[in-house]
Amino acid sequence: MDFYIDLKNIGTEELKHIDLDRVNVSCNPPDFEPQRQYYFMAKCRQIVKLESERLGRPLYACSVTFGCQMNARDSEKLSGILKKVGFLETGSEDADFVIYNTCTVRDNANQRVFGRLGVLNGYKKKNPGMKVALCGCMMQEDLVIQKLRKSYPFVDLIFGTHNLYKFAELLYRCYAEKGMIVDIWEDTDKIVEDLPVERKYPFKSGVNIMFGCNNFCSYCIVPYVRGRERSRSPEEILREVKNLAADGVKEVMLLGQNVNSYGKQQGEESMTFPELLKEVEKVEGIERIRFMTSHPKDLSDELIQVMKESKKICRHLHLPLQSGSTAILEKMNRRYTKESYLALAEKIRREIPDISLTTDIIVGFPGETAQDAEDTIDVIKRVQFDNAFTFVYSKRTGTPAAAMEQVPDTLVRENFDKILACVQETARDRVKRFEGKTLPVLVEELNEQDSSLVTGRLSNNTVVHFPGDASLIGQIVDVTLEKCEGFYYIGSKA
Ligand code: 5AD
Ligand code: SF4
Repeated sequence: MDFYIDLKNIGTEELKHIDLDRVNVSCNPPDFEPQRQYYFMAKCRQIVKLESERLGRPLYACSVTFGCQMNARDSEKLSGILKKVGFLETGSEDADFVIYNTCTVRDNANQRVFGRLGVLNGYKKKNPGMKVALCGCMMQEDLVIQKLRKSYPFVDLIFGTHNLYKFAELLYRCYAEKGMIVDIWEDTDKIVEDLPVERKYPFKSGVNIMFGCNNFCSYCIVPYVRGRERSRSPEEILREVKNLAADGVKEVMLLGQNVNSYGKQQGEESMTFPELLKEVEKVEGIERIRFMTSHPKDLSDELIQVMKESKKICRHLHLPLQSGSTAILEKMNRRYTKESYLALAEKIRREIPDISLTTDIIVGFPGETAQDAEDTIDVIKRVQFDNAFTFVYSKRTGTPAAAMEQVPDTLVRENFDKILACVQETARDRVKRFEGKTLPVLVEELNEQDSSLVTGRLSNNTVVHFPGDASLIGQIVDVTLEKCEGFYYIGSKA
């Protein structure tokens, strides 16, 4: 090649389109982002190319996501970089590069990761060039890192939630250096934009609007592993949404641990979450807007009004209850009561009657009695959730609740079974309310069990299966909802 691109002279918009094979990597890396990461992508590309020439085959990478929508979006960023540097993506963990994007919100997620690492070690023995990487929330815990160093020496790369944007640089180091590379940051105020992303679905995408959480619910590890709240600027968010729309995306999901406190760190003059929603609504091509997650204590009347008047914001609100007992809510540091939650749910239902409410419930929080569980059941019956994700309380080291007196397992089980039965019964009746109606469905994929069916979602997030083929994927079609089967519908194209 006769001339090289010097990344120090390239603007961020241009970066996305540059030919990485023409980047000058014989100079020092730029010391500013995201140019620096593109420099390391170019370096990695050379390594991948050499290695695949040596092996006489392409190199395969596999990324596995645990946990929430935020992690799913982060994994799309990892995949974007892996693709850009020349890996082919595979679903098989018997690959040349495997990365687990971990979750630590409950202990069983951690146990699953440790269990699967044993299997990866087996693959690595067969393929010594294989690299194993771990990232995400679980890596922000000291005890996890100590355990990995001691008992899992075959892991090549470990990084956390705050330096995900440095993945290209860390990937390069993983190939260029020997031994386990561990790079964990305590916190950051930095948000790096404009890195490559490989979306799982061409027609829908998550969009981060804020990172971190300041709420410190007493059971929750998220504020410790994701750090303090940081909001992206409205300009950056809207630029991303416009680019997504131009790329064929019809549905965006605005993501944050607590979207209702969007912009609050920036002070009075910044945009509020409802104002941001109004701006996203104006983006042509975007037909559906979702968001996750709302904390009940911060859900404003302004948000309800904006949702009510909107043509694009989906008729769905995920509003984690956690417990229906005011005493437990207080110990959880949730800062609302049973009564104020009920009043909020009632107000939302009054203003937006066709909305679906879903929730999260924790059973077995320290001190929870059978009577507290009855309060939760009472709220479920009164609110009539369309769905509720019910979790057994998991003790997380370092959180205030870990030091409180724990509930005996038998009582947790009893309360859990009662609450789950109530959720299933009320949701079945609730979801059914649209039976016989014809409503728009965004088709997402071929049905996993029966390929003569396609699967999509209503605006209110309920899943619908109906006869159709792959040509419908990504389209919004009118479907008659013939039969409700618990949490989903069987329908037919209208
Ligand atoms: N134990 C059980 N469930 C938890 N969640 C958060 N922390 C814990 C924990 N320690 C649940 C909450 C939250 C959801 C994402 O995970 O219900 O809303
Ligand atoms: Fe955890 Fe509470 Fe923050 Fe949600 S709002 S991430 S439950 S601390």
